[in-house]
Amino acid sequence: MGSISASLLFTILAIAMSILRKYEPFNSWVQKQIEKMLMKSNLVSKELVVRLPDFKLVKNDEFSINGRAPGKYGISLSEISETLSNLKEYEIRAKRLNSVISQRANQLNNYRINQLAKINYFEKIQTVDTAIENNSIVLKKIIEHTLNKLLQKNIMDTTNDELYVELNTLCGILGYSVKNKSTLVDNHSPVTLHANTNSNQGRVVETMSHLCRDWSSDYNREIEPLLSFIMDRIDSIEIKPNTKTLIIVPGSGLGKISYSLAKKYPNYTVDSIEWSALMYLVNQFVLEHGENVKIHPFAQHYSSQMSLDKQARPIEVQLPKTEDLPLNLKTLYGDFREYQPLDIINNKIDGYEQIIVVTAYFIDTAENMFEYIESIEGLTNFLNNTDSKSNNKLNWINVGPLKYGTRPLVQLTANELLKLRKLRGWEDLSNETLTDYVSSPLNGYITDYDSLYQGYYGLLRFHSRYPSNDG
Ligand SMILES: C[S@@+](CC[C@H](N)C(=O)[O-])C[C@H]1O[C@@H](n2cnc3c(N)ncnc32)[C@H](O)[C@@H]1O
Repeated sequence: MGSISASLLFTILAIAMSILRKYEPFNSWVQKQIEKMLMKSNLVSKELVVRLPDFKLVKNDEFSINGRAPGKYGISLSEISETLSNLKEYEIRAKRLNSVISQRANQLNNYRINQLAKINYFEKIQTVDTAIENNSIVLKKIIEHTLNKLLQKNIMDTTNDELYVELNTLCGILGYSVKNKSTLVDNHSPVTLHANTNSNQGRVVETMSHLCRDWSSDYNREIEPLLSFIMDRIDSIEIKPNTKTLIIVPGSGLGKISYSLAKKYPNYTVDSIEWSALMYLVNQFVLEHGENVKIHPFAQHYSSQMSLDKQARPIEVQLPKTEDLPLNLKTLYGDFREYQPLDIINNKIDGYEQIIVVTAYFIDTAENMFEYIESIEGLTNFLNNTDSKSNNKLNWINVGPLKYGTRPLVQLTANELLKLRKLRGWEDLSNETLTDYVSSPLNGYITDYDSLYQGYYGLLRFHSRYPSNDG
């Protein structure tokens, strides 16, 4: 009886399996489970954090991995692994998407396909593949730069085997091995895509465009108007000589604005704070690579193009020379709402006489605008109290649109924001909106100036100051 029911069960299972195997969602579920099991043995520890800005690998429970830990700056090693994996997967994923363009055209009849071939339509798609390969070379440099930095900062001066194993695993995931505990060797292994990784290729492409916006002279037209407004406003602030001034740039992206401010004001401390690991790591590369790179930012954009030359054109990105790096610039990773000045945390100084917050294309990223405003107001805690009569201490300079992001709790108009500042005790020194493209140029944001579609933003610009509690 027992053997009959066992064979019956086996038969039912076999039939069920043969039906399920034909069912695509079941197949991909099985595949995902297998990949998950494989990935588990290939993951870096979630316990380890790369402390910033010194890049030391530490085991520290005090760090919160989402970056919200007041006065602590660090990225979890697993987030670095995921971020670099996204860069690593770019070429294969972008080429896959590109092949869809040919597949679609190949659905046409032969007569039409022949005509497309005669106008070099399929060659265009191949040229885009080459542009993707070129972009991927730059992304590979970013991966190698980050891994080399981690190795240099950790392996050379540590005998801690656990850290070594973790760094080795990270390098392995990205296709490298480590020789003599310090030299990165490319294994030239084929890239395997993991279905269960959160690949965010949109962000990768956006970051490459940001490299152009921030660091290519072709994009001066986007950054220069922002910088000239910000610098004019900073220059208008009366700052007593030999006093300590801090400029904070929240949401600093790939860092051109904070870098330029640090160069222009060498006697002030400039802290930039960025909450995207991808942006932060690429910003580190920007500051430390020391050589120009070429990006084809619009190659994968098939709409609104005038010619293949324009679509696939490379843009030269002039990265700063490493010897030119301003020593007064500190690049921090984390949530601005938890920001504390590095020099105060490190007990280098007690406080500042002046704090200037510069928000460029930032305030509309707020899920809760009140939290941003309160965080800015909270910076008065880092002001020295010696000059209590002055209310000239906390300055807020803003330039950017009000294009609110995902699920904002409030979406204020420029006018409402003006009233709110007044209500909360801010005093405006300037406030204007630039919206008329005839009399005041609008501002592009990683815009393709050689295409049939060009997006521009109107700008809300204000300079406001906040009296300190005793001011
Ligand atoms: C629209 S981008 C602008 C970047 C840069 N300011 C520019 O003008 O090119 C906004 C940036 O703010 C960052 N960000 C968003 N919320 C943040 C937060 N709470 N703290 C720090 N950075 C944040 C995003 O990761 C993004 O890089």
